[in-house]
Amino acid sequence: MAVLLIATRYAPCLKNAVFLHLKKHCDCGARSPAARRSSAPSAAGAGGDAAAPSVSRPAPGAAMLCRFASAGRSSAKLVAPLGCLVPRQKHTLPDLPYDYAALEPHINAEIMQLHHSKHHAAYVNNLNVAEEKYKEALAKGDVTTQVSLQPALKFNGGGHINHTIFWTNLSPNGGGEPKGELMEAIKRDFGSFANFKEKLTALSVGVQGSGWGWLGYNKEQGRLQIAACANQDPLQGTTGLIPLLGIDVWEHAYYLQYKNVRPDYLKAIWNVINWENVSSRYAACKK
Ligand SMILES: [Fe+2]
Repeated sequence: MAVLLIATRYAPCLKNAVFLHLKKHCDCGARSPAARRSSAPSAAGAGGDAAAPSVSRPAPGAAMLCRFASAGRSSAKLVAPLGCLVPRQKHTLPDLPYDYAALEPHINAEIMQLHHSKHHAAYVNNLNVAEEKYKEALAKGDVTTQVSLQPALKFNGGGHINHTIFWTNLSPNGGGEPKGELMEAIKRDFGSFANFKEKLTALSVGVQGSGWGWLGYNKEQGRLQIAACANQDPLQGTTGLIPLLGIDVWEHAYYLQYKNVRPDYLKAIWNVINWENVSSRYAACKK
């Protein structure tokens, strides 16, 4: 009876503590409008990128934790990603907040359609498969399989996180320059907006093979930083920086329109950057 009373008394506190801990470590775009507008996943015709070999450094099962943190505070949703009492929720492909042709002439509709409905969808589907296998391995105590699944979790989890942020970083009404606190921070940390733009462009153009250029926030140092990530490495999970603006420089993001001239794609993408979204992310991560 004493044990029962103690469990009843402290269970809600424990649940909240676990929730807050995991939410603190999550960067999966739970704040993004696209992530909140989930739709049915499309498994058919998954693009080749997501099937490519993954990267070398194993990461923790952050992707599972990210979905957990955005799942809400109900106890049923709380325990699901921990592999216990109820079936877990699968990740879904978020809707774009605009039409496929909305970013033309800077990024054409064919690229956007394939990029979103095939490539991003493939990351989502492959992440769900990897998580399902991970869940089974966890239940069996099969540590070898758990370890072997880390590259797939990193690659597909990163692909899902990165693209979910990317879609909201773009807008048909974008371009120009940021305002307010974000602009002040850019001037403080890069000297000027022009200098920041030049540095992030050069970093993104210089990514060898496939990867991303990022503007991120270093919370410990209280300043903005730019960084390049290989493959689908998620910015926060691999560098600790909180992602504000991501530029996808995989060939699937530009080749159909810009062929091998990545610098022209970089020049064009500044015309559709959604500074309101980037500013919102900056304000949120400073809280
Ligand atoms: Fe992409």
